[in-house]
Amino acid sequence: MTSLKKRSMFLFLFCILLVSAYCKNEKSSDKEGILQYYALLLGSSAPLTNITDADCTDPAPAFATLAQAGTTASCSNCHNAGNANAGFDITSFNSTLNRVTVGNPRGSLLFNKINSGSMRIYNNNSINKAIYCWTLKGGNP
Ligand code: HEC
Repeated sequence: MTSLKKRSMFLFLFCILLVSAYCKNEKSSDKEGILQYYALLLGSSAPLTNITDADCTDPAPAFATLAQAGTTASCSNCHNAGNANAGFDITSFNSTLNRVTVGNPRGSLLFNKINSGSMRIYNNNSINKAIYCWTLKGGNP
């Protein structure tokens, strides 16, 4: 082998090593960040306002506040009785209550899915607040 061949062989192996090291370090949370970035580029979601308990002024919001905030428009196409993706029907009180831990929105599947998870792109501030506060303040019918 000539030294030139050796050198290009070495460079080639080095590149493979770099690529594989990069892929190994990539966490799924990074991929989610990248997806959110694409969503932003596509204009499908503006950054959400950070929500806190103090924002929930209604002491006992009803289940209907979710639909009023926009879940019918944004979510029910894919989450209704006849077409319940992931078995979730957002028009059903029980189906929705099953996906929250009452009193703990940040520990709930529903809030996490829309706040930072795969349903983030369908969310907006109004839905975010309604789901957070409904979960926090009792998950009322
Ligand atoms: C275009 C269709 C579509 C829209 C619109 C949509 N979803 Fe989803 N949703 C899905 C699919 C597909 C899944 C299953 C894959 C996943 O979890 O990412 C899912 C999963 C979920 C889950 C997980 C349920 C479980 O038990 O695992 C929740 C919660 C959810 N969606 C909430 C919402 C909310 C709230 C909205 C509106 C802000 C919404 N989705 C809008 C298609 C959609």
